[in-house]
Amino acid sequence: MRKIERTWCEMGKIAKKILEYYDKHKRDLAWRGEVPAYYTWISEIMLQQTRVEAVKPYFARFIEELPNIESLANCEEEKLMKLWQGLGYYSRARNLKKAACQIVEFYGGELPKEKKELLHLAGIGPYTAGAISSIAYGKKETAVDGNVIRVMSRLFAVDGNVLEGKGRQKIEELTYQELPEDRAGDFNQALMDLGATICIPNGAALCHLCPLHLECQANLKKEVEKYPEKKKKKERKLERQTILLLSDGQKFALEKRKEKGLLAGLWQFPMLEGRLSLQEVREYLKEKGISYSGIEEYEPAIHIFSHVEWHMVSYIIEVEKWEIQEKREENFVWLSKEEILTEYSVPSAFKVYLDYLKQGQRKLF
Ligand code: ADE
Repeated sequence: MRKIERTWCEMGKIAKKILEYYDKHKRDLAWRGEVPAYYTWISEIMLQQTRVEAVKPYFARFIEELPNIESLANCEEEKLMKLWQGLGYYSRARNLKKAACQIVEFYGGELPKEKKELLHLAGIGPYTAGAISSIAYGKKETAVDGNVIRVMSRLFAVDGNVLEGKGRQKIEELTYQELPEDRAGDFNQALMDLGATICIPNGAALCHLCPLHLECQANLKKEVEKYPEKKKKKERKLERQTILLLSDGQKFALEKRKEKGLLAGLWQFPMLEGRLSLQEVREYLKEKGISYSGIEEYEPAIHIFSHVEWHMVSYIIEVEKWEIQEKREENFVWLSKEEILTEYSVPSAFKVYLDYLKQGQRKLF
């Protein structure tokens, strides 16, 4: 990697300070210390979804159920989705299994050590490859995520867009330049910790606690909030949906989502495009020949994905028992509350409706 000329600090000072800070303050996490590289991999993928605190219980459950690469390679899709339920981006979980199969087939069941080999595995990009290679195997590789970008762009007051292109490359180079030979993994994790706890966004940076406050160019200029330059947010697309909570009091209808696209292959309460009125839902049920004894509007809900927002309205529909027995709507499967909650992966976009199920639904009439 190209070396950037140093102008203002002596070699290694940043690494020394940040490692001292890490040794004193590092977070005690189940995927740190003397653990299999498999733990590093799983935690890094989960940490791309959400915060450390939220990952902890998911990680513990995942490792208990799938303790090694072989068990992941042999895991049933439905079980995997259940372990991932609530984390979002289910394709990441599917890629974990795909990569586990690749590792068994091509690497003798062991995660490769080198970044360029890790990059061949499903779902592993430059960040994850660098994190595994440095943290699990001590290789001198960077692992630049959003937190690291924030810390480094402030430390070196890097102007312009640092999220992609040349700016991003500059952050990579600066980080590589500071990496210590022998503790690259700790250095990377120290930067991540700093970014998550001290060098935080939205006017909340705690510079007085930062081990690098004397070296930080943005802090010295009193311009911490200027870095990193904010990306102009793309407007999210708004989609309206109608959710049907069809039940005879014991069983509920679920349908499987398409195998491609958002929340692919997961289960949902029957969903219709658009915001349907009570009358329109009645007409839909009539058209489908679904007979019911009661119908009532239930709670609306909003779920925000990165690129799209779902605005949902919902209806509770009390169907006749024989409707379920005859299974006339073939896209629906009729399941008990327990089956839905324990065996089927319904994404958290439907949390309001899963809660309705958990509370014990009320009788309409
Ligand atoms: N965020 C992503 N990976 C992390 C790690 N290994 N430690 C702390 N925060 C992280």
